[in-house]
Amino acid sequence: MVREIMKNIFAVGVNDWDRRLFDELIPLPDGTSYNAYLIKGKEKNVLIDTVDPTKERELIKNLKSLDLKIDYLISLHAEQDHSGAIPKVLELYPEAKLITNKKGKEFLIDLLLIPEERFITVEDNEKISLGNKTLQFIFTPWVHWPETMVAYLLEDKILFTCDLFGSHLATSDLFAKDKERVYISAKRYYAEIMMPFRTLIKEHLKKIKNLEIKMIAPSHGPIYSEPDFIINAYEDWVSDKVKNEVILAYVSMHNSTKIMAEFLISELINYGIKVIPFNLTKTDIGELAIAVVDAATILIGTPTILTGPHPAALFAIYLINILKPKTKYLGIFGSYGWGGKTIDIVKNLFTNLNAEMLPPLLIKGYPKEKDFDLLKEWAKEIKEKHQNL
Ligand code: FEO
Repeated sequence: MVREIMKNIFAVGVNDWDRRLFDELIPLPDGTSYNAYLIKGKEKNVLIDTVDPTKERELIKNLKSLDLKIDYLISLHAEQDHSGAIPKVLELYPEAKLITNKKGKEFLIDLLLIPEERFITVEDNEKISLGNKTLQFIFTPWVHWPETMVAYLLEDKILFTCDLFGSHLATSDLFAKDKERVYISAKRYYAEIMMPFRTLIKEHLKKIKNLEIKMIAPSHGPIYSEPDFIINAYEDWVSDKVKNEVILAYVSMHNSTKIMAEFLISELINYGIKVIPFNLTKTDIGELAIAVVDAATILIGTPTILTGPHPAALFAIYLINILKPKTKYLGIFGSYGWGGKTIDIVKNLFTNLNAEMLPPLLIKGYPKEKDFDLLKEWAKEIKEKHQNL
């Protein structure tokens, strides 16, 4: 299906309604879309990005229905969900040149074996003319690969951002109308894909805010006809502000750690703290990623199995560590039977977070009166830290 988003600018991408996993890791509860845009200029026509190879036929059908030549094919990001159909488009449009930056070119040659002679490389801020329209390339490295860039259509004031500001959301809405749904989906996307690059995104946002933008057209999810909606959301997520929230992610084998978790949840709620618990045996890791975007504290509860933490806890710790949330406080609690190195192992895994580690709280066996007293003290310490946020 082709839809015109503005005069002579067409959405030619494809919804992937049924996809439920990305990178064999990230859950996609709402599917996703691979957006591509065709701009018809007075002299030149441009296709911005393509689609995942699994949807190549639908993209080609959309392009054929417009019956236009393609002079330039722009690759804003070389990951295959946007670049996968480039070889087919280049084959069907032999006159088309592939525009990207130097790093993008290297990736596209490595990943898709595209011949050198098809490329035109651009520099940061370089412009190309389509006759009556001008596209400017603005480099935004590490959102989320080193080559990522955005393109600004000067006359129509549209910013094409590829993954940046995207959402894994297959919807019949061309524009972000259902704001509540899009917000959650975009936050999930930010948490899973963009959060590790939070400090770089802050800088990119400064550049983007200098532009007059009427529309942001990402390569996943609906288009933003009110760009402030997503820019403001990003400014909030990348800021250093944290919320009075505790993420309590735990796994329990014989209930001891679970009893501790439930006791902590009650104590923290009584202190007016919002608690978001995750039983790690049943957790959608996207939900966990969203939750850690702006929580002040993350607590991990684990039993000791053999000599260390439960593998479900290890997976969550590894994931949180690579996502690099702005969390201020970390805590580890749980129960052990006869020993082990749980604390040391966990401490050594949290290498990326700039957070203060609370004194660990590991108890032997089932929690007893004195252990509940320790948990009370722990909750109180967290409350006091949150009061000083
Ligand atoms: Fe949507 Fe990084 O690809």
